Amino acid sequence: MALINENYLKLPGSYLFSEIARRVNQFKTDNPEADIIRLGIGDVTRPLSPAVVEAMKTAVDEMGHAQTFRGYGPEQGYEFLSEKIIENDFKPLGVELTADEVFISDGAKTDTANFPDILGVNNIIAVTDPVYPVYVDSNVMAGRTGLFNDNKGQFDGIVYLPCTEENGMKPQLPTTKVDMIYLCFPNNPTGMTLTKDELKQWVDYARENKALILYDAAYEAFIQEDNIPRSIYEVEGAREVAVEFRSYSKTAGFTGTRCAYTIVPKEVKAYDSQGNAHSLNSLWLRRQTTKFNGVSYPVQAAAAAIYSEAGKKEIQANVRYYMDNAKLIREGLINAGYKVFGGVNAPYIWLKTPDQLSSWDFFDKLLNQANVVGTPGAGFGASGEGYFRLTAFGTRENTEKALERIRTKM
Ligand code: MLT
Repeated sequence: MALINENYLKLPGSYLFSEIARRVNQFKTDNPEADIIRLGIGDVTRPLSPAVVEAMKTAVDEMGHAQTFRGYGPEQGYEFLSEKIIENDFKPLGVELTADEVFISDGAKTDTANFPDILGVNNIIAVTDPVYPVYVDSNVMAGRTGLFNDNKGQFDGIVYLPCTEENGMKPQLPTTKVDMIYLCFPNNPTGMTLTKDELKQWVDYARENKALILYDAAYEAFIQEDNIPRSIYEVEGAREVAVEFRSYSKTAGFTGTRCAYTIVPKEVKAYDSQGNAHSLNSLWLRRQTTKFNGVSYPVQAAAAAIYSEAGKKEIQANVRYYMDNAKLIREGLINAGYKVFGGVNAPYIWLKTPDQLSSWDFFDKLLNQANVVGTPGAGFGASGEGYFRLTAFGTRENTEKALERIRTKM
C-alpha cells in the first residue's frame, strides 16, 4: 500500500493563485461579456526584449547544428551567465562572489521552495505575515509545521512576524529563537522595503542565533530610492548567514521562459545534531546535481543577453514602464481616498480595504462591480486580512482603465 505524505493534507485545498484563477474563470463563465482586467497574480505583460529574443534565436540555431549542439549543461548553470551575474548584479554593490556560489535555476519560486530540502525538518521557521505563500506551503509539505489553526488562520509551529500599519509593514525580530527566517524585500505582497540598518538587525540576529536567512530579492530591480539595499550581502556578515534568491521573471519578462538564480556563499553554514557546521554551498550543489539538470542552453543564453548594452537599456525601460504603472495606481488610489502602502520601490501596491470589508469580500466586489482582479490580502496570511494587493505588471492601458473603474464603480 502506497502511503501519501500526510503533510499535504494539512494544506488548504488550493494554492492562492489557483484559487483566484478558479473564481475568475467562474465569473467569466457567468458573465461572458465582461472585460476583465487582471491585476492579481504578478504576471508580466511586456514581451521579451529584442536583445533577449535575438540571443535565444541564435542559441536555438546553434542547437540545430552538430558543431555547436550542446547536450547536458552544468547543473549549476553556464559560467558565461554566472560571470555576468557577478560582474553586473553584485560587483557594483561592492559584493564579491565566485562563480561556484551562483546557482542558475528555473525560478525563485522553485528555489525558495526546494532549498529547505537540505535543512532539518525540526528547524523552527519564521515568516513575515503577510507572506508569499510558497514559503509557508512548502514548509508544510516538508513537515516543518503543525496543523492549520482555524482560529488563528495560521499554521501551528511557525513563528509569524506581523507586518502591520502600526509597525509600518516592517517585521520585528522574533522574541523566541528561530532557525530559518524568510525575508522578501522589496516585499511581496506589501511592496515595502527595509533600510540597510534594518536589514543589519536580521543579519546580527542570525549570526547570534546560528540561524539562516532565506532572502528573496526577486523584486530588487524595482528599487528606485538610493538608500535601499539591493542585496543582503551589502550588509556586513551576511555571507555567513544568508542565501539570496533572484529572478529574471519580472524584470525581463521571464515568467513563461523561466530563469533565476540563487547565491549560496561558501561561508554559509548549518549544523548537524552534534553541532558540527556544514557548508550549505556543498550540500546545495549535491542536491542540485542529483535532482536538477540545469536550465536549457537557449534560455541561459537569452538571460545572458540581458547584460549586453542593448539588453540593459531594454530591461531598464521595462522596469520604468511597470514603475510608472505603480505610480499611477498608488496616486490614483490615494486620490480616490484609499490608504496605500508600497508601489514606490516595488511593483506591488498594498491597499487597505474600505469600510472594513474582508479582503475576499473586496475581491468579489471589485470583480463584480469593476471587473478588476486583484489578490485578497488574507491569502498572504492572517495579518493580510483587511488588505488587498494590486500589481503594476498590467499594460498601461489596462492599468489606467482599472483605476478609472475603481474611481467610478466602487
Ligand atoms: C505573485 O503574484 O505573488 C507572484 O507572481 C507569484 C510568483 O512569482 O510566483
